[in-house]
Order: sequence, then structure tokens, then C-alpha cells
Amino acid sequence: MRKVPLADSLRIIGRGSLNWIAERPIVVSFEVTDACTCYCKHCDHGGPRDESRNLKPADYRRYMEALKPCVVQVSGGEPLMRPDIVEIVRTIKNGSGIPYTILVSNWSEMTEEKYLALREAGIDQFSVSLDFPDDRHDAFRGYPGLFDHLSDIMPRLAALGHDDIVLNSCITSENVSEVSAIADMARAWGVNLCYSAYSARRTGCRDYFLNTPEQIATLNEQLDGVERRRDNSRWIVNSTTTLDATRQYFENAGTPACKAGLRFLVVTADGMLQPCSMQFKKYPLEHQSRMVSEFTATNDCDQCYVSIRSYLDKSFPQLLRENVSEFLSVKA
Ligand SMILES: C[S@@+](CC[C@H](N)C(=O)[O-])C[C@H]1O[C@@H](n2cnc3c(N)ncnc32)[C@H](O)[C@@H]1O
Ligand code: SF4
Ligand code: SF4
Repeated sequence: MRKVPLADSLRIIGRGSLNWIAERPIVVSFEVTDACTCYCKHCDHGGPRDESRNLKPADYRRYMEALKPCVVQVSGGEPLMRPDIVEIVRTIKNGSGIPYTILVSNWSEMTEEKYLALREAGIDQFSVSLDFPDDRHDAFRGYPGLFDHLSDIMPRLAALGHDDIVLNSCITSENVSEVSAIADMARAWGVNLCYSAYSARRTGCRDYFLNTPEQIATLNEQLDGVERRRDNSRWIVNSTTTLDATRQYFENAGTPACKAGLRFLVVTADGMLQPCSMQFKKYPLEHQSRMVSEFTATNDCDQCYVSIRSYLDKSFPQLLRENVSEFLSVKA
């Protein structure tokens, strides 16, 4: 995985330290639309939605100035459905190397032209969802032909050599035995790899959680195999501590001490602040500190271990150490 240049790394560390002290978020996830091209079994989005109240590209400047995040996720719904997505990214980056900006997408609408335009506008990392290493992906996502599209476009864009594409796989009871095969797929396509964990909180459905000792044993075997393939190229983006915490999350059916609202938050498509994508208490932009005192201070939800949490539940020294050595061009 490509490292962030030195000057930007130092600025990210500086801004992160200030935000930590000032109780501003480190990571902000902009859900730029609620609409989606897919109908995934594990998700509460899916299909068309009312888009008339979506923020306009220029509106994102106000959010960036107030929140000053170090890392931004541009997500949804399906962010590539926005015809003005390049303009949104350009506004978020504002001609600067920071924030480190990740586009989280299913890539059903990705083309080479869009990829290059989004890179030029400032996307640092393209996170592409994959649930199965074959056309079971289409069935799980309710989108015929999606796996064939990814099989064509992923290796083609990876071959351009920018080393900024990460295959992102959400572990469920349906695909737990495919964890290692998904790593093979990432290698075959020439892209990096990241795992996240299913949460039943999104849909209320516990069937896709790992509910039996056999499923947990399969997870451990599969992740042990993945760990053996870790090397210095950092193609496995999750740290070992994060994958260990993912195992614990499934074993304990939850992970306490969530910092949603404080260390990270979501901006909804129509511009409200939410603690996370699965907690729907909304606040206006000016009231982030009220969200911290009202929501975060009393939050006892332990119902996910998605990547945004796995970065940010750590202590500040651990967060710096892991990210500094893994992503930033500064010695830890
Ligand atoms: C909500 S989607 C939005 C971006 C884009 N549509 C995509 O699928 O990548 C972001 C990520 O959330 C994951 N996801 C969806 N439902 C989930 C759930 N119930 N628990 C954990 N992750 C989930 C998806 O697999 C995807 O990787
Ligand atoms: S996981 Fe992503 S692609 Fe699937 S329905 Fe949800 S938002 Fe859409
Ligand atoms: S554990 Fe935190 S991030 Fe996850 S659903 Fe609960 S409040 Fe949201």
C-alpha cells in the first residue's frame, strides 16, 4: 500500500494531535447519497432514494472548515451514483494533501476515466467491497454481472501502478470460509486487502453474524492463514492487532468502549451529524460537542467493529504508532 508523502504525513499527525485534544473527530465519513446500485443482504441501503435534499459539492467546505478531520471517508449508499462526485472530492481536499481521503464504493459504476479523475481530485485510497471471490458476490449484492465487472476493471486499474486500491471484505457467516480465497483474489488482481466485520445492528438480522463455535473456529483458521501471508509490502492493510480485535468481537458478540461521535462521526447526505452509520440520533453541524456530551458520554452500544472503529478505539500513542509505521512516511 502506497505511503503518504512526508510533508503530508507530518501535517496529518499535527492535525490529529490537535483534534484529539480539542475533542474534534479524527475521521469523518461523508455519506454523499442514500441511494445505491445494489441490494445487499447485509445492508439497510439498496435501490433508489429521495436525493432532492443532498448536500451540494460547495456545501462540503463548511463541514471541512468546522470539523477539520485528518481522514475522510466518502461513502453512501453508493457514492459513484453522484454525477458530481469528483467535485465533492475536490472541495473536500481543497487543493491540499490532507485529509487522507478514502472512497468507499462497490465499484459497479467505476470506469478508468472516473478513477483517474477521482485520483486527480484527491482520492488517496479506493476501498472496493467484495463479499465472495466469484459470482456469489452478484447474488449477495443483488447486482448481476458485478463480479465480472470487477474481474475486468480491478486488475486493469491496479496495473496502472498507483497502489491505491484496497479490496474490502465484510466477514459474515456466509463468507467466513472464503476469507483466505478473498486474499487470493486480491493478490490475483494486484490490489491490497482489508477485512471488516458484520454488524447485525444495520438490519437487525443476526443470521449473518458468526453465531456458532464452528464458525468462530473457521474464522480463526482462515485469519491464521492470512496472517502467515503478511509481508513488508503492507498489502494486508489491517494491523494484526485489528484482526485480533475482530476475532474477539465475534467471540464476545460485541466490542465495548465505542467512541462514535467523538473520534469519528458521519455526515448524512442531507448534512446532519450522526455518531455513526447505525445510530440515527441527528445533530446540526454546530452541535458536535453536544453529540459528545449527550451521546458518546453515555453510549453503551457495542454492536459493531467496522473499520472506522478499529482505527479509533486505540489509545493515541498506539494509533500514531500503527498508522505512522503503516501509512505515513515517518518512523514510529
Ligand atoms: C454501507 S457500504 C457504502 C459504500 C458502498 N456502497 C460499498 O458497498 O462499498 C460501506 C461498507 O459497509 C459494509 N456493510 C454493509 N452492511 C454492513 C453490516 N451490516 N455490517 C458491517 N458492514 C456492513 C459494506 O460491505 C461496505 O464494505
Ligand atoms: S453495502 Fe454498499 S452496495 Fe450494498 S446496499 Fe449497502 S450501500 Fe449499497
Ligand atoms: S458500536 Fe459504536 S460505531 Fe458501532 S453501531 Fe454502536 S455506536 Fe455505532
